[in-house]
Amino acid sequence: MFAQGFFAEIRIYDKSMTSAPRKIIIDTDPGVDDAMAIFAALASQELDVLGLTTVFGNAATDITTQNALTLLDIAGRSDIPVAAGAAAPLVGDYLGPVPQVHGHNGLGDAQVAASARSVTEQPAADFIYNLVAGDPGNVTLLAVGPLTNLAHALQRCPDLAAMVDEVVVMGGNALVPGNATPVGEANINNDPEAADLVFGASWQVTMVGLDVTHQVNLSGAALDRIAATNTPTAHLLGHAVPHYRSFFEATNGIDGIFVHDPTAVIALLEPDAFVMNDWPLRVETQSFSRGKTWPNMDNTDEAVPAAWQNRPPVKVCTGVDAERVGAAVEALLTASA
Ligand code: BDR
Ligand code: CA
Repeated sequence: MFAQGFFAEIRIYDKSMTSAPRKIIIDTDPGVDDAMAIFAALASQELDVLGLTTVFGNAATDITTQNALTLLDIAGRSDIPVAAGAAAPLVGDYLGPVPQVHGHNGLGDAQVAASARSVTEQPAADFIYNLVAGDPGNVTLLAVGPLTNLAHALQRCPDLAAMVDEVVVMGGNALVPGNATPVGEANINNDPEAADLVFGASWQVTMVGLDVTHQVNLSGAALDRIAATNTPTAHLLGHAVPHYRSFFEATNGIDGIFVHDPTAVIALLEPDAFVMNDWPLRVETQSFSRGKTWPNMDNTDEAVPAAWQNRPPVKVCTGVDAERVGAAVEALLTASA
């Protein structure tokens, strides 16, 4: 409880003292909806993207890293560094890419030019640590892929947690079914051990999971408006999104797509569009329910079950003004360059 109040005060202090954009690092596995999230964050005047760190997930890390570089080139932001991250989870092997969702190249099989740029010399975990330690209290981590890089950074430097402003995670499912398995969401399912570490560290984490992202459906008409926008980023999305859209329309029977990763960007920008609960979380690492995020919803109970003892509260999103969030995503993705 003390930690939660402490972090809340820091955020309020920051907002009232400065109108400078919020500094973020995006940890990502691009990924069609990752591309949308990256472009949305770059389009926001309220965010200052310090760097991208890459991880396996929607595709292998060499592909997601190349995609991160290419996406920044397309956005005209080749000044932003990219640090390559983990190629496998903390335990076991990478479960493999999902071409049926994100295409074989992770970008919906859109034709893209390879970037001429290189990644930083520092691997992702060191890159994260050094940027955060260089500006303690002022850097937020937006994690929209498996949480392996954040776990590596915490394992190497446990003091990282005290220096981060906030961690916003797209991942998990508190009160709803999974999407990668019947009970597990894809990002958490790709590295449950890492997720359990991240949700258990002494920093303020917001979980933007399927409880809300499965409510934010960007319609086919909205996607068509984005595709018709005359900017390089919208042009790329016009070619990358159709494959992703076909997947959702075939498997979920919806018109359009669920905008998982962009919803986490809007949670940073407009947190009052969400219902958040302070619930300690554990991640199941065993057996057939591996990857399930389990909240302790009754933290007034004096007899906290052993598994949740000494776990910090996570801001778990369970409600959302879906129209407002969808409109905010569309506004950022149709903004002129
Ligand atoms: C998450 O998994 C990935 O497929 C998406 O990019 C998103 O981060 C949704 O479960
Ligand atoms: Ca992602």
